[in-house]
Amino acid sequence: VDHVLGIKYLTPQDIQLVHQTADQFKEVINRPIKKVPSLRDITVANLFFENSTRTKLSFELAEKRLSADVINFSAAQSSVKKGETLIDTVNNILAMKVDVVVMRHPNPGAGVFLSNHINARIVNAGDGAHEHPTQALLDSYSIREKLGDISGKKVVIVGDILHSRVALSNIFCLQKLGAEVMVCGPATLIPKHIEKLGVMVELDLRKALQWCDVANMLRVQNERMDISYFPSVREYTQQYGVNMELLQSLDKEITIMHPGPINRGVEITSEVADSDQAIILNQVENGVAVRMAVLYLVASKIKRN
Ligand code: CP
Repeated sequence: VDHVLGIKYLTPQDIQLVHQTADQFKEVINRPIKKVPSLRDITVANLFFENSTRTKLSFELAEKRLSADVINFSAAQSSVKKGETLIDTVNNILAMKVDVVVMRHPNPGAGVFLSNHINARIVNAGDGAHEHPTQALLDSYSIREKLGDISGKKVVIVGDILHSRVALSNIFCLQKLGAEVMVCGPATLIPKHIEKLGVMVELDLRKALQWCDVANMLRVQNERMDISYFPSVREYTQQYGVNMELLQSLDKEITIMHPGPINRGVEITSEVADSDQAIILNQVENGVAVRMAVLYLVASKIKRN
C-alpha cells in the first residue's frame, strides 16, 4: 500500500505483514544497539493538529530507530493559528522535501483528503472519530503476542464506541484477522446500526466480560461529546467501569487492554489497570515496533535515486 489511511483499506495479508515485520523490529529494539539504517535519507514530518502523547512519541521514536530525518509540527504552536489552511500548511512542509507525512487531525477523512492533494506517503495517526489504524495494528499485535492466533478469539470493546476511532479501526482489524467482536456500553454511546458491521451489541457489561477473551476498555471522550448523550460519570462507572471485584467474579481470567489515556477510576480502576491481567504498557511498548513496521513498509515504495 502507498498510504496507511485506515484499516478499512488493508487486506488481512497486509495486516499480517505488518505484524511479521514488527516481530523483527521488536527483536531489533530490544538489542543494546537499537537503531537500524532502513530509513536513512527518508524525511518524515509528524503533523499533529490534535493532542497526543503515545502516538506522537511512539512515531517519533520509531522514525529515529529507523534512522529517518524527523520534523515535528504541532498545530497549537503553528501558523494554523493565523488562519493557514491544511493544504497550504502541508505544501509548505513538503517544499522542504518531505517523503512521509504522519498526521493526526480532528476531521474524519483528513488523511484521505490530503492523499488526493499532495505527493507524499500519508500515515493516519487518528482522524477525528473515524480511524486510528496504527492503534488497531498495535492492539491486534498485542493480542497475538499474549494469546496467539487472533482467529476465533472473542474481543469486546467497551465504552464510548460512538466517538471512538480506536473502536472502528479495531473492529475492522480484528474481523479481518478472524476474531469475533462485540461492543458494550450505554445505548447512547453505541452507533445505531453498528450490527451492520458484523459486531454483536451487549448492554450488560458483566455478560460481555463473561463472553470475551479480551476486553478493550475505551476512554469516554468528553471532548467530542454533547453532554446530553451521556449518563453521569458516576452512573457510567457503576454500570460500565471495570474493577477487580467484577473481574474476579468471572469464571475465567480475561485480558484487559486500554489505548490510553486512562480516566483512572472511571472506565477502569487503578487496581485493574496496574494488574497482571492488563497489557496496557505492553501495547505502548509494541506501538514502537508496529509503527517501525508501518513506516518501513510505506517507505519501501519510495523511489530513492
Ligand atoms: N492511544 C492514543 O492514541 O493515545 P494519544 O492520544 O496519547 O496519542
